[in-house]
Amino acid sequence: MDNVNQAEFWQQRYQSDSIGWDMGEVSPPLKAYIDQLPESAKDQAILVPGAGNAYEVGYLHEQGFTNVTLVDFAPAPIADFAERYPSFPSEQLICADFFELSPERYQFDWVLEQTFFCAINPQRRNEYVQQMENLLKPKGKLVGVLFNRDFGNTHPPFGGDIEEYKRRFETHFDIEIMEPCYNSHPARQGSELFIKLQAQ
Ligand SMILES: C[S@@+](CC[C@H](N)C(=O)[O-])C[C@H]1O[C@@H](n2cnc3c(N)ncnc32)[C@H](O)[C@@H]1O
Repeated sequence: MDNVNQAEFWQQRYQSDSIGWDMGEVSPPLKAYIDQLPESAKDQAILVPGAGNAYEVGYLHEQGFTNVTLVDFAPAPIADFAERYPSFPSEQLICADFFELSPERYQFDWVLEQTFFCAINPQRRNEYVQQMENLLKPKGKLVGVLFNRDFGNTHPPFGGDIEEYKRRFETHFDIEIMEPCYNSHPARQGSELFIKLQAQ
């Protein structure tokens, strides 16, 4: 399972088109969240880590959000995104390991989580929580969706449940929302939680 920590594992999945997680469109709960944000949010610093084909980043860009940073350590989806969105600032496309991002260099108002948490080795979940807090400005927010179901623990996606997530996140975040999604993509109906967490 260690190979999920390696960019090569994911790069090969993109190169062989074995990307069963890819919905081909912006996640409906995240679209609904983005759509209700005020005009004043459009220059906020936003991180989308493990963004893959990054439909959410594309949507934010189309809606006029100017300070969105896409991070993924697999180069293939980033190259694809750059081709699909030639007007997206190239300096905001970062091919790097999320866990190696320097908080001295990067600070965000909010982070959008979409099938990244479930892709990392579950043993790194506390590290994920700590790194999220490090990369957020004081009172910054982690917003997104998490799987609320078990998939087994041999390969991604790695699932979980609300009790585990509460235990993990409440050490560093105030939990504003963590509840079942009512507007998931049909393929994910009944299996997602919407989260909105504020860094302490
Ligand atoms: C399951 S895919 C999800 C992609 C995208 N969020 C989506 O929903 O289509 C997980 C993504 O996270 C990336 N990833 C996994 N671990 C990473 C890490 N430590 N740093 C950066 N990206 C990582 C992979 O390359 C892959 O693109």
